[in-house]
Amino acid sequence: MQLEERVKRRLADLTDTMPDDWFLTVRLREGMYETFCALSGRDNKLELAENDQKSAGGRKKRKRVGVLAQSWTCATAVNPILTAGLTPEYHEISADYLSYTLDKDFQSGHDTLAALWQHSLGIPAQIQQIKGVVTLEDSAHCLGLIARDENGKPLADVSFHSFGVEKLLPTQFGGAVWVNPDSAFNTKMEQVRQNLRALTSPDIGLNLRYRLYKPLNGVFNRIPSTLASRLKSYLTSKGVFIPPIEDAELRGEMTRNSSAPSKWMLKKMLNALENYEVCIHQRQKNTYKLCQLLESELEKAENKGKIEIPKGVKSADYLIRFPIIFPTAELARKKFDHLKSAGYWPGKWYNPTFFPGVHDADKYFYNAEEFPQTQDVAARTIQLPTNAQWSEIEGMVKLVFN
Ligand SMILES: Cc1ncc(COP(=O)(O)O)c(C=O)c1O
Repeated sequence: MQLEERVKRRLADLTDTMPDDWFLTVRLREGMYETFCALSGRDNKLELAENDQKSAGGRKKRKRVGVLAQSWTCATAVNPILTAGLTPEYHEISADYLSYTLDKDFQSGHDTLAALWQHSLGIPAQIQQIKGVVTLEDSAHCLGLIARDENGKPLADVSFHSFGVEKLLPTQFGGAVWVNPDSAFNTKMEQVRQNLRALTSPDIGLNLRYRLYKPLNGVFNRIPSTLASRLKSYLTSKGVFIPPIEDAELRGEMTRNSSAPSKWMLKKMLNALENYEVCIHQRQKNTYKLCQLLESELEKAENKGKIEIPKGVKSADYLIRFPIIFPTAELARKKFDHLKSAGYWPGKWYNPTFFPGVHDADKYFYNAEEFPQTQDVAARTIQLPTNAQWSEIEGMVKLVFN
């Protein structure tokens, strides 16, 4: 069996789906872009700009066709919407799920095309199917999660999974898109399939640059940090080093046309998938133990109200990072710095929103003042790792309550 088939077979086995309904890309954001282009009926070829990067373009001609979304996310998850000529319709996130929830009787506008639901950190989003609106599921943080209804039917028309940097698997590259064969949006789904099926592997030069990512990172980690950051900037400006998020991506752009994974990427994806159970086992164990430990700490009189744990954590199989919410933004900042100076690696996804922070929120059709709840939760949340040794995690918890 070909490598690609084996990756798809493994994904299908893990999710109780069929291999032919899976499509692979170099980065998940490319799979999302192809999907949004297919849904919007827009040509998926990006315009070539002078510096070999491709711009979003067409914004002036934009018809207002919306996609429900949230700003508590990575910029790379919203860029595909923008670049496909669509307009995000943001909703406030809830502190319980770190994703948006809708009223039971929510009615979309007649120009709403799709709803993108993010399983934030692995907490299942409260997906609600909306009549006439395509349901999209962002499982970037929880590769292998396809949310289902009480009868076991997948809720999403399209489900997005990432093999990217800082995700579940140590692959650094790779995206996987599952297209629901039973979707009611037949014509649109056929276009999604066509776009994804047509992708080819990156050319030799680009493939080589992707291959250099890991060894170059190894060099950056071994040399003094000021030198490393200068070298990284230089190699990035020359296009030799491709960082996980490029500067143009902070301006709402896609940086290159989409491609399918090359052979060595497929090998890495397959190897990582073979270790999938081991990877999630450690996270499952740590997620569970963290929940127990934090709850028992919170029961102590002196710790009451020191932090809040999002309610949705309990319904997660595993978390990629464990969120804790402090009463104030200042305290969250202080604890984050405290943990870092003690040698730990806490996380602060997604503060700022559209992480790691975009140049111009207007380009994202976003006005932070209209989303006080999201901004507040973002500023008060930090995350503990779930892939570290338990002793390290325990040490972090001690400092959190200290
Ligand atoms: C929620 C979310 N969706 C999508 C993506 C895009 O994934 P990739 O890096 O594989 O393109 C990311 C990346 O960080 C993400 O955090």
